[in-house]
Amino acid sequence: MSMKREKRIGILTSGGDCPGLNAVIRGVVKSATRLGYDVVGFLRGFEGLVDPVTYMPLSYKNTSGILNQGGTILGSTNKGRFAATIGVDQRVELDPELVAEVRTTCEQLSLSGLICVGGDGSLTIGQELYRHGVPVVGVPKTIDNDLSCTAFTFGFDSAVTAATDALDRLHTTAASHERVMVLEVMGRHAGWIALHAGIAGGGDVILLPEIPWTFDHLCQKILERERQGKKFTLVVVAEGAELPDGRMVTRESQQSDRQTRLGGIGEVVGREIEHRLGRETRVVVLGHLQRGGPPTTFDRVLATQFGAHAVRLVVERRFGEMVCYRPPVIDAVPIAEAVMELSRVDPDGSTVQAARALGISFGDQPPAWHPFQAQTAEATRDDAVVAPDVPVEHRDAVTAEVVAAG
Ligand code: F6P
Repeated sequence: MSMKREKRIGILTSGGDCPGLNAVIRGVVKSATRLGYDVVGFLRGFEGLVDPVTYMPLSYKNTSGILNQGGTILGSTNKGRFAATIGVDQRVELDPELVAEVRTTCEQLSLSGLICVGGDGSLTIGQELYRHGVPVVGVPKTIDNDLSCTAFTFGFDSAVTAATDALDRLHTTAASHERVMVLEVMGRHAGWIALHAGIAGGGDVILLPEIPWTFDHLCQKILERERQGKKFTLVVVAEGAELPDGRMVTRESQQSDRQTRLGGIGEVVGREIEHRLGRETRVVVLGHLQRGGPPTTFDRVLATQFGAHAVRLVVERRFGEMVCYRPPVIDAVPIAEAVMELSRVDPDGSTVQAARALGISFGDQPPAWHPFQAQTAEATRDDAVVAPDVPVEHRDAVTAEVVAAG
């Protein structure tokens, strides 16, 4: 297993993949090579570090052209021999034999540092390895955007873009058929994808894990839209949103040592809407379409910066730290701090407030009826020029809204 050069960095990608992983790998290889380091990439996440140890030398050549590729050229493992988290915040100890094997692998390859690219679960493993003497540097990735201490993880923007594109497409068909469309998106126990895609894609109702909701309020919103002349409604539901009775919809029963697979709430919501209102409802589960494919430009830039900055942390021997984005700078924090608590949507935060201001429902309150909405509902392109019964000082705003809607 011995290799010639003494300055060497290892990298692995662990957990669910996401767009931008290859951009990080490329960023690490390019910046490390310029500083005189070799880079080796361990295959299939942490699994590559232990028997049978599997890795590949990474170079300019074999990382060329991967910036815009989804997935990871190193492969990843979600449920392998390493697992340090279950559910939202339950921690489990790593097998000491595995930890010893990892240390041996790093020593035999004379690694100056091991860059672990992962989400909450994988970085918790990284933190455990660091506690046992492995020179770990963390890079936060996940479409869920649920890691603390960083404004964004890369992968999130790409997932939101995919979900927004889905909503754009659902919008036209929903309008044509006067249907309710329910889009279920990923995100585990955080509603970031649902919230951002819901706003970007013109969702009417957004159901989040962070905001308890009821079917009554959801259905009231659909009826309110009908009163406004909008015969279709777009509902975005996060896979981790709880049903009003507190149940979570999962795809399989919880195994004691594994993360539960979420999913299926969209179908439950759609069925109940049809049952209560008798409106034609269709359900789309976006699934892994929001995890595959090329990273957005935002994610490419973020991932590239994370890669270059992670190398700097290795050079400065700042082990146990994770790169993070604190706009406008790329910074670093202890991994332990980042994995202490999931980052979840603040129900009183400015993004939710802005959505509410637009009339988007979170299913937690009766829809707030605004008199201007009644005016715009009845107006047509022709009579929009002067909206009757509207105070003169507000007419411009109403007219503009109707024309824009037309
Ligand atoms: O954590 C990323 C994520 O895509 C979640 O949003 C989702 O719940 C989960 O992974 C799906 O995992 P898998 O690919 O194992 O089905």
